[in-house]
Amino acid sequence: MTQAAIVDARDVDYALEIAGRPLTILRKVNLRVAPAEVVAIVGPSGSGKTSLLMLLAGLEKATGGTVAVNGRDLGGMSEDELARFRRHTLGIVFQSFHLIPSLTALDNVGMALEIAEPNLSMAQIREKAAAALASVGLEKRLDHRPSALSGGEQQRVGLARASVANPPLLLADEPTGNLDQKTGAIVVDLMFDLARRNNTAVVLITHDPALAARADRVFTMTNGELTETPVAR
Ligand SMILES: Nc1ncnc2c1ncn2[C@@H]1O[C@H](COP(=O)(O)OP(=O)(O)OP(=O)(O)O)[C@@H](O)[C@H]1O
Ligand SMILES: [Mg+2]
Repeated sequence: MTQAAIVDARDVDYALEIAGRPLTILRKVNLRVAPAEVVAIVGPSGSGKTSLLMLLAGLEKATGGTVAVNGRDLGGMSEDELARFRRHTLGIVFQSFHLIPSLTALDNVGMALEIAEPNLSMAQIREKAAAALASVGLEKRLDHRPSALSGGEQQRVGLARASVANPPLLLADEPTGNLDQKTGAIVVDLMFDLARRNNTAVVLITHDPALAARADRVFTMTNGELTETPVAR
């Protein structure tokens, strides 16, 4: 028997109504991602990459087809169930980091863990958050607020926050979009390392073909249609 997919999106359509007119954003998108598999999605601006990620995160609903993540059909879930699903199943890394400015690196990561695992003690949360930050090389920056961190360091906090509760799926929307190429490559290396160590599947959106080529598989979104792109190894 083949192992259940962590992402199983079938014939997904996504359409919005703008000023009374239908606007098709995704058409018949199929994407299956195996546990611990790393896939990259590239494609022009406006082609629908972020929209697909929003559907996988259960932040928007498909207008056709089905989206299942970790064996659960997101279409049939209530808002509460979706919120719980996101806490336990997903880590999300954003282009613009989205750290809380008033909290230290340790507390930014600790807060995410506390939400995912409310039964942990404060001591356990601090210990695990510190370990997550150490795993991205930030053991000396625990007490820094985001404004006192470089862009690459902020994104490494973002990565620690997304992975601290050990979710089976990491979604990253241009996580290197605000970083120079060298720093971006370091962040993506860390993300892939973490994913391999924790058996986390990754869906990475990127504009950088060199980063995409390091994924197990590469897909291209063009005008709302997703196709797999063969990768030369
Ligand atoms: N809430 C919305 N209302 C209207 N149009 C939307 C909405 N969300 C997305 N769109 C449209 O859907 C299309 C796809 O947008 P999306 O953000 O998914 O593109 P993208 O591939 O992530 O682009 P980029 O590389 O610039 O981030 C765009 O044409 C966008 O204008
Ligand atoms: Mg986008």
